Amino acid sequence: MRRKIVAGNWKMNTTPVEGVELARDIVAGRNTVCEPVDFIVAPPFTHLSEVMKTVRGSGVAVAAQNCASEAKGAYTGEVSADMIASLGVEYVILGHSERRQYYGEDSGILNKKMRQALDNGLIPIYCVGEKLAEREKNEHFNIVKAQIEEVVFNLSGEQFRNIIIAYEPVWAIGTGKTATAEQAQEMHAHIRGILKGKFGDAAQETPILYGGSCNPSNAKELFFKEDVDGGLIGGASLKADDFLTIGRRFC
Ligand code: G3H
Repeated sequence: MRRKIVAGNWKMNTTPVEGVELARDIVAGRNTVCEPVDFIVAPPFTHLSEVMKTVRGSGVAVAAQNCASEAKGAYTGEVSADMIASLGVEYVILGHSERRQYYGEDSGILNKKMRQALDNGLIPIYCVGEKLAEREKNEHFNIVKAQIEEVVFNLSGEQFRNIIIAYEPVWAIGTGKTATAEQAQEMHAHIRGILKGKFGDAAQETPILYGGSCNPSNAKELFFKEDVDGGLIGGASLKADDFLTIGRRFC
């Protein structure tokens, strides 16, 4: 049975004080959600240390939103995977479409980031997804396939067992337009098929999360699809009640 995961990507939102309050509210409500759901929160770098202290022992885990492609040295403004892991952070989001779009992160960079993350014991949440124009041209399956082949296929079998995939159609992110449960399932099954072709039965254990305007109203329908193992939530993760309610959609 695959893990069920609800991960909140706070993006560039909240002050450190607000972030700790949000984490505290999530921890306080965590026990009201059925057991099989794992919650992860991904605050900005500036909050990681305090949020780690806030969630300690609660079962809520923490992710960074990014990590450097290099190990250390003269890379002004960068934060290494080692620095992140040394705080006790367990996960890192890589390949988010906002990083691909605004910061030019391509497969070359993402291969290096994946390696840094895995070498330092972080679990990457690797994001893939097509743009609207690509879907309209019926290229979405090939786009996502390439995003997986160019990065995930470079992992060893052992490394592969330590990753999470998030399918986030770019046209659904922050737009209020969610993929239908059928569209999500179709793509998640496609992704699992690609992973299975390379890594065999291990792909059955890989959590594949859906992201893109997922909220308390649409989460249940999405999560009950066979290959949808949870969500990577943006806007709706900034309110503890909504985030926890999304988790309850598995119960
Ligand atoms: O990482 C999260 C996704 O980009 C989804 O964001 O829920 O605000 O659409 P959203």
